[in-house]
This record gives sequence, structure tokens and C-alpha cells, in this order.
Amino acid sequence: MRAAPAAFDAPTLIAIKRDGHRLPDAGIDWLIDGYLAGRVAEEQMSALLMAIYLRGMDTHETARWTQAVMASGERLDFSAVPRPTVGKHSTGGVGDKITLPLVGVVAACGAAVPSASGRGLGHTGGTLDKMESISGFTPALSGARVRDQLTEVGAAIFSAGQLAPADVKLYALRDITGTVESLPLVAASVMSKKLAEGTDALVLDVKVGSGAFMKDLDDARELARRMVGLGAAHGVPTRALITDMSSPLGNTVGNAIEVAEALEVLAGGGPADVVELTVRLAQEMLDLAGIHDVDPAQSLRDGTAMDRFAAMVAAQGGDLSVPLPVGACTETVTADRGGVMGHIDAMAVAQAAWRLGAGRSRPGERVQHGAGVRIHRRPGEPVTAGQALFTLYTDTAERIGPAHAELDGGYRIAGVGDTPPQPHPLIIEATP
Ligand code: URA
Repeated sequence: MRAAPAAFDAPTLIAIKRDGHRLPDAGIDWLIDGYLAGRVAEEQMSALLMAIYLRGMDTHETARWTQAVMASGERLDFSAVPRPTVGKHSTGGVGDKITLPLVGVVAACGAAVPSASGRGLGHTGGTLDKMESISGFTPALSGARVRDQLTEVGAAIFSAGQLAPADVKLYALRDITGTVESLPLVAASVMSKKLAEGTDALVLDVKVGSGAFMKDLDDARELARRMVGLGAAHGVPTRALITDMSSPLGNTVGNAIEVAEALEVLAGGGPADVVELTVRLAQEMLDLAGIHDVDPAQSLRDGTAMDRFAAMVAAQGGDLSVPLPVGACTETVTADRGGVMGHIDAMAVAQAAWRLGAGRSRPGERVQHGAGVRIHRRPGEPVTAGQALFTLYTDTAERIGPAHAELDGGYRIAGVGDTPPQPHPLIIEATP
């Protein structure tokens, strides 16, 4: 049983952080408990979050904050699942559909992946929005149902629901108070949910670049270091990859359009970057799960990863034989000159997809499953004048103009005499 929180008051705790001092342990517990119960007002938590954004939290405070947020809900228990369980989390990217092929690959190789996922908010997509574009698919599973599915199929993608409910409330507040991009708050938000997921091990994909929360490599390294430390402190072996998010992953950004691309990967094809990251994350996860004698790439070639993914979808009511939705209105953006496709900015494509209706601007808003952007020419590929560069999809014709405007300036074509784009690695480094 948790001890009754000691008596504190929000103005004093806010002032402590405002003045650059460490929050007391019991004060953190009191704040999280009081915020969830409504005793700490929204404006008080907003002020505190901004003070944390500006002043930071040290490793000890971040660990205590994570623990308090995790303790606000249930922690799943997969000890009865007869396979090693391993989780994966991405800090959020553009075109990041990796979870879909990854759960199939890792399940096909003998581990079990419970993927508690969220919906998109702001410019980053949400795995649940993508999965719900599959006819009939439901992410609302009880803990017992997730356990059964992990035993039978090896994978489940389900709504994070009551895991770390304080994080749901805090995240929504951060989203509207300009405090999302705080390193300790991101670390605590991610790890409170992932530790509540109750897996034996954890692999993190920390994104860096214009389309990520961390724009700077040093910040991404520090975030990875802190999250790996939080995992270890809770007895969960955790590794992190730092990966590039300056341009979108794969050729699609949206919901159904990303599911279709994930199915291509599961069928043994798909864009090279999506395949590379899926296989590398799977290797890390399998290694932590103690499974060393399998080649995850083989499961994409021989169809076993697809079989697992399809079994998971069917177990959750989804029907992959129903065609995926496609926006009724489309527009093709063409090249105004020939040359070489230059950098494509992840944030510009994300904003365009969001304008088309693929994302939401308020929690609870409906997304258009058929909305999104298809990229036809990748950086470094030759382009001729008039050639299709992007296709925009939406159900709402008026959304095309604003989406087109977001894309303008978000890519360039290098002509004769211009410096062509320099290729840069997708996987930048791994934490030791
Ligand atoms: N993903 C999360 O779950 N939380 C954050 O704060 C940022 C990305």
C-alpha cells in the first residue's frame, strides 16, 4: 500500500523549481498524486512544467518523477507468458511505422512483444491511428487478453489505456503549454509507460532531427542515457539506438498509407530504410531476449513475420482482406526543374500530412485514415522537370491548398552546379 502523501503546497514546490533547486522526493509524489486527483490545478502544473522545462531535473528527480507517474496506474505482469517479453518505444517520428513490421518479425523469431501504443497528437503519428485504419481492428484489450495473445501469437498492439494515467494528463498539458521538448519530461513520460508495460527488456529508438522532439545529437544522447539508466534502475535491461529523423522514414506519411507500406515490408519488399531499422531493432530486442541463433531479416523473406502480423490483426478483429482507405481527393506535386532530389524536411512533410487530416489538433479529434503524403523521389534520386515528387491524399478538398503550402520550402531539387544532398546514416549510434 502506498503511504499517504505528505502535505506540501503547489506554490512552494513551483518556486523551488523556478529558483533552480531540486524538488523533494515526497513533494514529487504529492504533485503527481494531487494533479491526478485534481488537488493541483492545471495552471499550477503548467507553471511547474515550464519551470522544469527551463531549469531541468537531475537524474534523481527524473527517476522519482518517473516512479510517481508509473505508480499512478497498473503495471502489467507477463510472467505467465511462456516466451521472453521485450518492448520497443520510439520517441516519435515522421513516417515511423516500424512497430508494425517489427512486432511480426520479433514474434516470428520467438519473443513476445506487447506494444502499448498511443494516438498521434501534433505532428507525430500514432500507432493506434495507423492500426485503426485496418477494418475491424480494435486496440482495446484487457491485460488478460494481451497475455493470452502474447502466448498464442507473440504480439499485441493495444491502447496504453490505464498504464500511467498521470502521463496521459501531463502529456496533454505539455502539448498545449510548449513544454513537450523537455529532456527529463520526455524521459519520464516514455519510461513511466514502458516500465508499466512490464516487459523483461526494452529497446528504445531515440529520434534526432527536424522531425523529432530532440533536434540536437547531444540532447538525443543525453535522453538515451537517462532512459537507459531509468530502465536499469527498475531492473529492466534497456538499450537505445539514436536514429536520424531529419527526413521521413520510408515513402509514406499518414495512417492507412503507412500500413500499406508496412505490409510491403512484411511481404519482403518496402523501402530500404524501413527494412534496415526494423531488422536492427529486432536484432537488439532478440539479443536482450536471449535469442541469438535467428536472422530476423529471414522472417521477412520467408513470410513468417507476415503470418504473425496477420494473426495478431485477426486476433484483434481486423480484416486485412478489406482494402485500406485512400483519401478521395488527391493532388500530385511535380518538379519545376530537373536535377537531383535534395533534402526532404521531415517536419514539412509531417505538417502537410497533418493539414490533410492524418493527425489531430485536439485530443479526441477524429483523424482521416485515408489522408497522407506519398513521397515519389527520395533524396539523391534523379528528377526530371514535370516528374511527380509527392502525392497528397485527403477526403476534404479544401485541405489540399494548406498542405501544399506546408510542403513548399520543405524540399529542394539540386540543379547543375548545386551541391547534391550528402547521404547520412539512418542509425547514428547505439548506447553501450
Ligand atoms: N513520447 C512520449 O511518450 N512522451 C514524450 O514526452 C515524448 C514522446
